[in-house]
Amino acid sequence: MLPAHWPKWTTILIGLALAVFTIPLALVLEPAAQALMPRPTPTATLPMLTYAAPPSRECILCHTNQEALRQTVSDPAELERLWIHPNDVHSTHGRLGCITCHRGTGGTTDLAVAHQGLVKDPTLHFEEECTLCHRNLPDEIPGDRLRTPHSSLVHGLAQGVTCSDCHGGVGHGFDPVSGNVICSMNVCLDCHRARNLRAELQECRACHIGPHDVAAALSCDDCHTSTVRWNETHLAVHPVELVGWHAQTDCFDCHDWPNFGGLRYVCSDCHQRPHDFGDENCERCHTPEGWNK
Ligand code: HEC
Ligand code: HEC
Ligand code: HEC
Ligand code: HEC
Ligand code: HEC
Ligand code: HEC
Ligand code: HEC
Ligand code: HEC
Ligand code: HEC
Ligand code: HEC
Repeated sequence: MLPAHWPKWTTILIGLALAVFTIPLALVLEPAAQALMPRPTPTATLPMLTYAAPPSRECILCHTNQEALRQTVSDPAELERLWIHPNDVHSTHGRLGCITCHRGTGGTTDLAVAHQGLVKDPTLHFEEECTLCHRNLPDEIPGDRLRTPHSSLVHGLAQGVTCSDCHGGVGHGFDPVSGNVICSMNVCLDCHRARNLRAELQECRACHIGPHDVAAALSCDDCHTSTVRWNETHLAVHPVELVGWHAQTDCFDCHDWPNFGGLRYVCSDCHQRPHDFGDENCERCHTPEGWNK
């Protein structure tokens, strides 16, 4: 590496000199590099707020503590419902602080005083506190193919539907950000049924947007037999009888995904004749039971 006539200790000297130069250089460059690094940009629809959580310490201490709750609760059966998992306090919404959403009075362990001015369902009375951050709520979530009627239902009081009906107590126990996004389908259906909404609002297609263009005469549940998985399907009546091998063939081996229709039931449209004799009217000699039948 080094010229042969240089003494060995020059290596050490060069090493030392390098170290003396690079360390301060790195110290100078580090903040510059930090400043240049790409930062995650916040979601455009969520405005930045200058915000200090009101002092919710006492609310938290009591509500995350089974023992403290037990001493003050009037109905012990309610304990489970009222207890808040300590982790939830640090979730995206939890960090807003109890009082931001529920009002009440901070700085006291006296139940009656703490609960003065308490709001049980903040989304019933102050839904604008949610919409402050969440503007332009979508009426459709395309990837999930789900209708989310925010614009017609967002004004909870008018329709008697609140954010919490679908999103639960977002600050705790039901944190949409950690994955538990919305109520289960049954919550939607139960309310639609309980309120006796128009029949079409109880059909699958009221909420689900299918990937396929199906004849109006067919509803989703003519084919979809499960409300958990879309790939459980069964079609009772098919325009042409599916017999023999065709009964076991996947729908989309014949049909072009994602739509049905546009097919003709002529054997030679889909099958090729491997022999010279005969003609294109395969069904004169064959059935879907098998070519050798
Ligand atoms: C000393 C314990 C204690 C403190 C402090 C406390 N709570 Fe409670 N909280 C309770 C108990 C107990 C209940 C059930 C009410 C009852 O049994 O009368 C409750 C009920 C609630 C409810 C649910 C009402 C319902 O029936 O759905 C909310 C919301 C609530 N508290 C929020 C708060 C907030 C916000 C604060 C702070 C400002 C707070 N609590 C401070 C003990 C406490
Ligand atoms: C201070 C601002 C703020 C407030 C107020 C707020 N949120 Fe959020 N919310 C957020 C942020 C930040 C996220 C995470 C967004 C993301 O990850 O894209 C979020 C996520 C959500 C999600 C899940 C979205 C998704 O893409 O999974 C729902 C649902 C939600 N919030 C409902 C509510 C409700 C209901 C309220 C009122 C009780 C509320 N939020 C109040 C900031 C807020
Ligand atoms: C009728 C039920 C219902 C009501 C009421 C409702 N939402 Fe939603 N919301 C949904 C559904 C369903 C989704 C879609 C969730 C998914 O597929 O990820 C959603 C999605 C969201 C998202 C995520 C949007 C995105 O772009 O990903 C936010 C934020 C949200 N809701 C906030 C609210 C707020 C705030 C309110 C009250 C003002 C509210 N919602 C009322 C059903 C509802
Ligand atoms: C982002 C807003 C938000 C924050 C922050 C928040 N909550 Fe809630 N909380 C809600 C909503 C929404 C509900 C559902 C109300 C309903 O369904 O009637 C709820 C329900 C409750 C309930 C009733 C539980 C139940 O399942 O019926 C209690 C108790 C409660 N909150 C206490 C607290 C305490 C204590 C804190 C602070 C640690 C807190 N909340 C922080 C929005 C919030
Ligand atoms: C607390 C009751 C309640 C719950 C829960 C509920 N809905 Fe509804 N929904 C309603 C009411 C009320 C209407 C309005 C009916 C009308 O316009 O006649 C409605 C209407 C709708 C509409 C038609 C809206 C329009 O503008 O055309 C859709 C789509 C819908 N809901 C989807 C859902 C989904 C998805 C969920 C679950 C995430 C859900 N709903 C949960 C009460 C509810
Ligand atoms: C009132 C609204 C509503 C109606 C009506 C409805 N669903 Fe759903 N469905 C939902 C919501 C909301 C989810 C998402 C639940 C979740 O993510 O946990 C869902 C989830 C599903 C899923 C699970 C796969 C997925 O996309 O997440 C299937 C399958 C399903 N529904 C099928 C059906 C069928 C079949 C019907 C008709 C019999 C039907 N649904 C009627 C609202 C509805
Ligand atoms: C004629 C029968 C039929 C009808 C009607 C029908 N589907 Fe399907 N759907 C199918 C079949 C078959 C599949 C493929 C299942 C599989 O993956 O094995 C499918 C798949 C799906 C999938 C999964 C898509 C994917 O990307 O994997 C969704 C979502 C779906 N259908 C929603 C709907 C909705 C919503 C309706 C009503 C508007 C509907 N379907 C009507 C037969 C039907
Ligand atoms: C052997 C091939 C084949 C298989 C497998 C098959 N189809 Fe078909 N399908 C056809 C043909 C051919 C037609 C057109 C019949 C006609 O219009 O006379 C058709 C028509 C349809 C139609 C009517 C379309 C319209 O616009 O009127 C629907 C819906 C349909 N099929 C759904 C399904 C479903 C769901 C499955 C799976 C369970 C399936 N098909 C399996 C060949 C098939
Ligand atoms: C005139 C009668 C006739 C017509 C028309 C005809 N076939 Fe055949 N096909 C036969 C006979 C006979 C065999 C031999 C059956 C055996 O091996 O037992 C055969 C065998 C076959 C085989 C099986 C070959 C093998 O190696 O096992 C296929 C595939 C086939 N036909 C497809 C077709 C198709 C597709 C058409 C229409 C485009 C068609 N055939 C039209 C009489 C016919
Ligand atoms: C719309 C397309 C389509 C039409 C029309 C059609 N088939 Fe099929 N057929 C299929 C598909 C797809 C399969 C299963 C995949 C495969 O093995 O090629 C199949 C399988 C078969 C099989 C078993 C295949 C094997 O390899 O053993 C026979 C036999 C058969 N069809 C006969 C017929 C006869 C006879 C007709 C006319 C009456 C007909 N098919 C019309 C699409 C069609």
